[in-house]
Amino acid sequence: MQVKTPSQSLTVYTDMVLPSETNPIGNMFGGELLARMDRAASIAARRHSRRIVVTASVNHVAFNKMIPLGSVVTVQAKVSRAFKSSMEVYMDVFIEDRESGERSLSNEAIYTFVAVDEMGSPVSVPQIKPETDLEKERYEAALRRKQLSLVLAGKMKPKEATELRAIFQ
Ligand SMILES: CC(C)(COP(=O)(O)OP(=O)(O)OC[C@H]1O[C@@H](n2cnc3c(N)ncnc32)[C@H](O)[C@@H]1OP(=O)(O)O)[C@@H](O)C(=O)NCCC(=O)NCCS
Repeated sequence: MQVKTPSQSLTVYTDMVLPSETNPIGNMFGGELLARMDRAASIAARRHSRRIVVTASVNHVAFNKMIPLGSVVTVQAKVSRAFKSSMEVYMDVFIEDRESGERSLSNEAIYTFVAVDEMGSPVSVPQIKPETDLEKERYEAALRRKQLSLVLAGKMKPKEATELRAIFQ
Protein backbone atom coordinates (compact mmCIF):
# COMPACT_ATOMS: atom_id res chain seq x y z
CA MET A 1 0.00 0.00 0.00
CA GLN A 2 1.39 3.37 -1.06
CA VAL A 3 1.97 5.91 1.73
CA LYS A 4 2.10 9.67 1.09
CA THR A 5 2.60 12.75 3.25
CA PRO A 6 0.12 15.62 3.75
CA SER A 7 2.52 18.04 2.06
CA GLN A 8 2.28 16.05 -1.17
CA SER A 9 -1.35 17.18 -1.45
CA LEU A 10 -0.72 20.81 -0.49
CA THR A 11 -2.90 23.14 -2.56
CA VAL A 12 -2.74 26.92 -2.26
CA TYR A 13 -5.47 28.97 -3.92
CA THR A 14 -5.17 32.76 -3.81
CA ASP A 15 -7.73 35.19 -5.24
CA MET A 16 -9.20 38.58 -4.35
CA VAL A 17 -12.78 39.47 -3.34
CA LEU A 18 -14.74 41.20 -6.13
CA PRO A 19 -17.95 43.26 -5.69
CA SER A 20 -20.16 40.45 -7.06
CA GLU A 21 -18.84 38.15 -4.30
CA THR A 22 -19.92 40.30 -1.34
CA ASN A 23 -23.00 40.56 0.91
CA PRO A 24 -25.00 43.79 1.40
CA ILE A 25 -22.51 45.14 3.95
CA GLY A 26 -19.54 44.70 1.64
CA ASN A 27 -17.98 41.57 3.09
CA MET A 28 -17.29 38.30 1.31
CA PHE A 29 -20.40 36.13 0.84
CA GLY A 30 -20.06 32.87 2.80
CA GLY A 31 -21.10 30.71 -0.16
CA GLU A 32 -18.29 32.16 -2.27
CA LEU A 33 -15.73 31.13 0.34
CA LEU A 34 -17.33 27.66 0.60
CA ALA A 35 -16.97 27.25 -3.17
CA ARG A 36 -13.31 28.35 -3.15
CA MET A 37 -12.62 25.93 -0.30
CA ASP A 38 -14.40 23.11 -2.16
CA ARG A 39 -12.20 23.71 -5.22
CA ALA A 40 -8.95 23.84 -3.22
CA ALA A 41 -9.90 20.79 -1.14
CA SER A 42 -10.91 18.76 -4.18
CA ILE A 43 -7.55 19.47 -5.83
CA ALA A 44 -5.75 18.41 -2.62
CA ALA A 45 -7.79 15.17 -2.51
CA ARG A 46 -7.05 14.57 -6.19
CA ARG A 47 -3.32 15.15 -5.64
CA HIS A 48 -3.35 12.62 -2.82
CA SER A 49 -5.40 9.95 -4.57
CA ARG A 50 -4.78 10.64 -8.28
CA ARG A 51 -8.45 9.61 -8.77
CA ILE A 52 -11.78 11.32 -9.46
CA VAL A 53 -12.98 12.73 -6.12
CA VAL A 54 -16.41 13.87 -4.91
CA THR A 55 -17.33 15.96 -1.88
CA ALA A 56 -18.95 13.62 0.63
CA SER A 57 -19.34 16.07 3.50
CA VAL A 58 -18.59 19.58 4.72
CA ASN A 59 -17.71 18.67 8.28
CA HIS A 60 -16.84 21.96 9.82
CA VAL A 61 -16.56 25.59 8.77
CA ALA A 62 -15.92 28.48 11.14
CA PHE A 63 -16.41 31.98 9.76
CA ASN A 64 -14.37 33.76 12.40
CA LYS A 65 -13.64 37.08 10.71
CA MET A 66 -15.37 39.26 8.13
CA ILE A 67 -13.46 39.42 4.84
CA PRO A 68 -13.90 42.88 3.24
CA LEU A 69 -14.26 43.67 -0.46
CA GLY A 70 -10.84 43.76 -2.18
CA SER A 71 -9.18 41.39 0.31
CA VAL A 72 -6.61 38.92 -0.95
CA VAL A 73 -7.76 35.51 0.32
CA THR A 74 -5.58 32.39 0.40
CA VAL A 75 -7.03 28.93 0.97
CA GLN A 76 -4.41 26.37 1.98
CA ALA A 77 -5.63 22.77 1.78
CA LYS A 78 -3.95 19.48 2.72
CA VAL A 79 -5.21 15.94 3.18
CA SER A 80 -4.98 15.37 6.92
CA ARG A 81 -5.95 11.69 6.93
CA ALA A 82 -6.88 9.02 4.43
CA PHE A 83 -9.12 6.09 5.32
CA LYS A 84 -10.19 3.41 2.80
CA SER A 85 -11.75 5.51 0.03
CA SER A 86 -12.35 8.73 1.97
CA MET A 87 -9.97 11.57 2.76
CA GLU A 88 -10.27 14.36 5.29
CA VAL A 89 -9.02 17.68 3.92
CA TYR A 90 -8.12 20.39 6.41
CA MET A 91 -8.08 23.99 5.27
CA ASP A 92 -6.65 27.18 6.70
CA VAL A 93 -7.83 30.44 5.17
CA PHE A 94 -5.67 33.56 5.41
CA ILE A 95 -6.27 37.19 4.51
CA GLU A 96 -3.44 39.54 3.65
CA ASP A 97 -3.07 43.03 5.10
CA ARG A 98 -2.95 45.44 2.16
CA GLU A 99 -0.18 47.62 3.57
CA SER A 100 2.07 45.27 5.52
CA GLY A 101 1.34 42.11 3.51
CA GLU A 102 1.08 40.26 6.83
CA ARG A 103 -1.21 37.21 6.71
CA SER A 104 -3.81 36.46 9.40
CA LEU A 105 -5.91 33.33 9.82
CA SER A 106 -9.56 34.11 9.07
CA ASN A 107 -11.15 30.67 8.80
CA GLU A 108 -10.63 26.95 9.21
CA ALA A 109 -12.62 24.25 7.49
CA ILE A 110 -12.74 20.49 7.16
CA TYR A 111 -14.24 18.67 4.18
CA THR A 112 -14.44 14.96 3.37
CA PHE A 113 -13.85 13.66 -0.15
CA VAL A 114 -14.30 10.17 -1.55
CA ALA A 115 -12.26 8.77 -4.45
CA VAL A 116 -14.49 7.09 -7.01
CA ASP A 117 -14.17 5.24 -10.32
CA GLU A 118 -15.90 6.26 -13.56
CA MET A 119 -19.14 4.62 -12.32
CA GLY A 120 -19.06 6.66 -9.07
CA SER A 121 -18.14 3.65 -6.88
CA PRO A 122 -15.65 4.28 -4.05
CA VAL A 123 -12.06 3.10 -4.65
CA SER A 124 -9.14 2.86 -2.21
CA VAL A 125 -6.62 5.64 -1.75
CA PRO A 126 -3.00 5.76 -0.48
CA GLN A 127 -2.54 5.98 3.28
CA ILE A 128 -0.97 9.04 4.86
CA LYS A 129 1.95 9.61 7.21
CA PRO A 130 1.81 12.93 9.04
CA GLU A 131 5.17 14.67 9.56
CA THR A 132 4.79 17.91 11.54
CA ASP A 133 3.26 18.22 15.03
CA LEU A 134 0.21 19.99 13.59
CA GLU A 135 -0.25 17.30 10.92
CA LYS A 136 0.00 14.61 13.62
CA GLU A 137 -2.59 16.40 15.78
CA ARG A 138 -5.03 16.71 12.86
CA TYR A 139 -4.42 13.09 11.83
CA GLU A 140 -5.17 11.82 15.36
CA ALA A 141 -8.47 13.73 15.62
CA ALA A 142 -9.67 12.81 12.11
CA LEU A 143 -11.18 9.42 13.02
CA ARG A 144 -13.28 11.09 15.70
CA ARG A 145 -14.50 13.66 13.15
CA LYS A 146 -15.25 10.93 10.60
CA GLN A 147 -17.39 9.07 13.11
CA LEU A 148 -19.22 12.28 14.09
CA SER A 149 -19.90 13.06 10.43
CA LEU A 150 -21.22 9.54 9.80
CA VAL A 151 -23.46 9.68 12.88
CA LEU A 152 -24.87 13.08 11.83
CA ALA A 153 -25.46 11.75 8.30
CA GLY A 154 -27.36 8.77 9.76
CA LYS A 155 -24.75 6.36 8.34
CA MET A 156 -23.41 5.13 11.70
CA LYS A 157 -25.21 4.29 14.92
CA PRO A 158 -24.01 6.42 17.87
CA LYS A 159 -23.21 3.25 19.84
CA GLU A 160 -20.78 2.18 17.06
CA ALA A 161 -18.88 5.48 17.27
CA THR A 162 -16.14 4.21 19.56
CA GLU A 163 -13.97 7.34 19.30
CA LEU A 164 -16.89 9.60 20.27
CA ARG A 165 -17.91 7.37 23.16
CA ALA A 166 -14.35 7.57 24.46
CA ILE A 167 -14.67 11.38 24.75
CA PHE A 168 -17.93 11.32 26.69
CA GLN A 169 -17.12 8.46 29.07
C1 LIG B 1 -19.80 10.12 -1.31
C2 LIG B 1 -20.37 8.83 -1.89
C3 LIG B 1 -19.48 8.33 -3.02
C4 LIG B 1 -20.36 7.80 -0.75
O1 LIG B 1 -21.04 6.68 -1.23
P1 LIG B 1 -21.56 5.55 -0.23
O2 LIG B 1 -22.54 4.71 -0.96
O3 LIG B 1 -21.98 6.15 1.08
O4 LIG B 1 -20.30 4.69 -0.08
P2 LIG B 1 -19.69 4.03 1.20
O5 LIG B 1 -20.72 3.78 2.26
O6 LIG B 1 -18.86 2.87 0.73
O7 LIG B 1 -18.73 5.18 1.74
C5 LIG B 1 -17.53 5.49 1.06
C6 LIG B 1 -16.66 6.24 2.02
O8 LIG B 1 -17.23 7.52 2.26
C7 LIG B 1 -17.34 7.75 3.65
N1 LIG B 1 -18.49 8.63 3.87
C8 LIG B 1 -19.69 8.53 3.29
N2 LIG B 1 -20.49 9.52 3.75
C9 LIG B 1 -19.74 10.25 4.61
C10 LIG B 1 -20.00 11.38 5.42
N3 LIG B 1 -21.19 11.98 5.42
N4 LIG B 1 -18.99 11.85 6.21
C11 LIG B 1 -17.79 11.25 6.22
N5 LIG B 1 -17.49 10.17 5.46
C12 LIG B 1 -18.46 9.67 4.69
C13 LIG B 1 -17.54 6.34 4.24
O9 LIG B 1 -17.22 6.32 5.61
C14 LIG B 1 -16.55 5.57 3.40
O10 LIG B 1 -15.23 5.87 3.87
P3 LIG B 1 -14.02 4.80 3.81
O11 LIG B 1 -14.14 4.03 2.51
O12 LIG B 1 -12.79 5.62 3.83
O13 LIG B 1 -14.14 3.93 5.02
C15 LIG B 1 -21.83 9.01 -2.40
O14 LIG B 1 -22.67 9.32 -1.30
C16 LIG B 1 -21.94 10.12 -3.42
O15 LIG B 1 -21.62 9.92 -4.60
N6 LIG B 1 -22.44 11.29 -3.00
C17 LIG B 1 -22.57 12.43 -3.90
C18 LIG B 1 -21.24 13.18 -4.00
C19 LIG B 1 -21.41 14.45 -4.77
O16 LIG B 1 -22.01 14.47 -5.83
N7 LIG B 1 -20.85 15.55 -4.22
C20 LIG B 1 -21.01 16.84 -4.78
C21 LIG B 1 -22.31 17.42 -4.30
S1 LIG B 1 -22.87 18.69 -5.33
